[in-house]
Amino acid sequence: MNKRVMLLTGAGQIGMAIARRMGYGMKIIVGDKRIENAQTVAKTMNEAGYDVVPMEMDLSDRESIRSLILEGQKYGDISMLVNAAGVSPSQAPVEAILKVDLYGTAVLLEEVGKVIVPGGTGVTISSQSGKRMPQLTAEEDELLACIPTEELLSLDILQPCNIKDTLHAYQLAKRCNEKRVMAEAVKWGERGARLNSISPGIIVTPLAMDEINGPRGDFYKNMFQKCPAGRPGTADEVANVAELLMSEKGAFITGTDFMCDGGATASYYYGPLKPARR
Ligand SMILES: NC(=O)c1ccc[n+]([C@@H]2O[C@H](COP(=O)([O-])OP(=O)(O)OC[C@H]3O[C@@H](n4cnc5c(N)ncnc54)[C@H](O)[C@@H]3O)[C@@H](O)[C@H]2O)c1
Repeated sequence: MNKRVMLLTGAGQIGMAIARRMGYGMKIIVGDKRIENAQTVAKTMNEAGYDVVPMEMDLSDRESIRSLILEGQKYGDISMLVNAAGVSPSQAPVEAILKVDLYGTAVLLEEVGKVIVPGGTGVTISSQSGKRMPQLTAEEDELLACIPTEELLSLDILQPCNIKDTLHAYQLAKRCNEKRVMAEAVKWGERGARLNSISPGIIVTPLAMDEINGPRGDFYKNMFQKCPAGRPGTADEVANVAELLMSEKGAFITGTDFMCDGGATASYYYGPLKPARR
């Protein structure tokens, strides 16, 4: 069998919405640490005419990422990557956030970048949260972008003594995602492929519900009430952006990050979400 193959990591709402938008006619391998999530998404999509294989995988583990790629290559060439796996500040401790969201994403982009076909496209889900952190130095940004993946977690700025809390770890991870996408897009470009990230605001998913019902719940509710859109977003609206980035219409777009946050970041800097003192 030789089909175009999509790798989807993270069988959540955002991942499924993008896979449904872009994955028709393809073989879709959906990897998730919780196999039951992958199975649920596979069942829903297969019953809607897609061709999906669920697989247990761990984004924080290079061998597991390689197994996902090998599974995909059984069916054909890897033409699309959707990375929507991740843990949020209320779901995991600092170490796990850095291992999954920061290191795991970097390894995935690197490994898929070795096999993506010409004309291939990828998106990884970052977050507007990374835009709220104070600027890093040019040197720190460059290290996040370019240091070999196995050295990432040894960086000074990522040591536990330099990380305030899980939100700070999450913000660093998402900042790293954007920087890594820029550097990897150069390598993907050498293969004729494109790579971008999307930074959503609050999108109603199980992950967001954990935040809304968690210790930062009031902060989250305030954020979507006071953003220009005045509401949280939906996974299908993130898929609208992915469709632009992953289709021919996005042929000149690579190595960049697109926000899809209902204007929450704009309001954080220049509107009612601006903190009293920064
Ligand atoms: N929902 C939001 O408001 C929001 C906002 C900004 C960014 N994001 C980002 O979007 C991405 C997807 O989130 P979502 O809201 O669709 O969440 P979700 O909870 O619906 O899905 C996330 C999936 O990732 C899986 N996962 C967690 N750790 C994993 C690991 N180590 N290996 C493989 N799979 C793993 C989970 O089991 C889950 O199925 C995350 O990176 C998140 O940070 C979400």
